[in-house]
Parts: sequence; C-alpha cells; structure tokens
Amino acid sequence: MNAPEKVRQYDRAAQTVGNIVHLEHFNVVIPDQRLAILFYVVGLGGTRDPYLFPGLENMWVNFGRTQCHLPSRAVPPRAEVLRGTAGLVVPSLDELEKRLTYAGSEMKRVVPEAKTKFSWARKGDVVEATCPWGNRVRCHAPSPEFGRTELGLVYVDFDVPRGTAEGIARFYDQVLRAPAKAEKGRATVRVGRDQRLLFTETDAPQPEYDNHHVQIYIADFSTPYEWLKERDLITMETDANEWRFQWITDPKDRKPLFQIEHEVRSMKHHLFARPLVNRNHGITNMTYQAGQDAFRGTY
Ligand SMILES: [Fe+2]
Repeated sequence: MNAPEKVRQYDRAAQTVGNIVHLEHFNVVIPDQRLAILFYVVGLGGTRDPYLFPGLENMWVNFGRTQCHLPSRAVPPRAEVLRGTAGLVVPSLDELEKRLTYAGSEMKRVVPEAKTKFSWARKGDVVEATCPWGNRVRCHAPSPEFGRTELGLVYVDFDVPRGTAEGIARFYDQVLRAPAKAEKGRATVRVGRDQRLLFTETDAPQPEYDNHHVQIYIADFSTPYEWLKERDLITMETDANEWRFQWITDPKDRKPLFQIEHEVRSMKHHLFARPLVNRNHGITNMTYQAGQDAFRGTY
C-alpha cells in the first residue's frame, strides 16, 4: 500500500465547475443567408450543421462544441445584433485573415447590391470582425486562458450600463449559482470548463433590446427556476427541459439591470452534448487528403 500523501499537491478548487456547465449558442436573426454563409462559414471558418435546419429558414453554424444560430427573416428583412461582443477561439489567426479577405471579396461579387457592415482588423493578438449586420466577433488564437479549446465560442462580452456589474455578478453568483465576481466595472461569470459570460460597463447608449438570445445548460435546473418564478421573471416555459428568462435582476434590491434572453436547458435536454461536425479548414478540392476532412484540433 502506498504511503498517504503528507503534502497537499493539487489545487482542487481550480477543477471546480459552477452551475452553468456550458454556453452553447447565441441566436441572432439574419436577413440574408448568402451573406451569413460568407461571414460565419467562409470567413470565420464555422461548419454548417448538416443535420438540423439544412434549408433557408434557419442555419446552425458549428464552432467546436458551440454554435451560432441564425434564423432567416428575409421579408421584411430583419437582423438582430448582440449588445456585446462574441469571443471565438480559432486555430490560426493568419488563416482566419486569409478567409476573411476572401469572404469580403465574395460578398462584393455575389451580393453587389448589399450595403453591409462587414469589416475586420488584426489588433495585436486578436482579430476583430463585424458581421454584415453589425454583430461583433473577437477572435483569439488558442491559449491557456481558454483551456484546451482550439475552436469555439468562449465568451459573450455584453455592454452594460454603468453601475450594474456588481449587481450582475450577485445575480449569477446567488441566483444561477455560477462563480461570478465584479472588478473594475466588469462582471465575470465562469461557465463550464473554460467559458465565460462577461458584462462590461460602458457609457455608450444602449440600443433597444431586439430579442436575440444566448443559450446555457445548467446542472441545478430547479433552484434558479424557483427564484425567478417567485419573482415573475420566467418568460417562457418551453417544455420539461427548458425555460427562459430575460431580465438579469439584482437579488439585493430586485432592480432590473440588463435584458438578454437566456434559453436555459437542463443537462437532460435531448440536445445536450450532441456531437457537432467540424471541418478541416486546411483542405480544398485541390489539396485533398483522404481521411483529413474533419477538424483534428481539440475543443
Ligand atoms: Fe436558442
């Protein structure tokens, strides 16, 4: 028998995951699937979900274990825009720059009549990109900050009104039971293995909330629900495995702080941990190698 350990050698707390176990997708309505394919699939390098919503009414785009959900509303054209910035990890920023350059040229060629907000720029160790309708995406190379993720949505960083970060951290910590703290005008909520929800205070005027949403899976599905239900804050009783709320509310004084629909699912939801297809961006029909179709990185 081995001798018992005399010295504690491991930081066990570093392995603890809070109640929000996964941030799986954000959902924004798009008016033109052609431009969305060029931005999310061709440019950012996502993979269109081949199994669900293969048509024109919606499109799911996979990034590792996460997705962007992009339902179409072409008539009348309507676009939703996150009141914040989505954070993505991609395998290579240099390759990303090549793809975004190509996607931009294709937007002009394929949809010459479109007046888009598409842009991108390398800023130090990130690439900041804006979708054709104004959604901001900040792309990072893999780094220890994001654990083993080499491809995926790693955070959404919301722009929130001045003076709300402390209350927002209290809400996630006490109501959703996810480790959260507020520091220097920013609330940080730990999500799952290596993801975060961020809330950064700004003086910029808030655009009106347009119904876009984020989706999370939580382990304790009932305690946060009961708290929100008692305060009349549940906005949708979808089914046995999902409910939604919109207002982040300070548990100290019930003050509504920020509006963003959370699609909240249990870990028994039928889509939890669904395997997602991810392609290898590095191959073309000309450079094809048998067996190299799939992305081989970690996520
Ligand atoms: Fe959703």
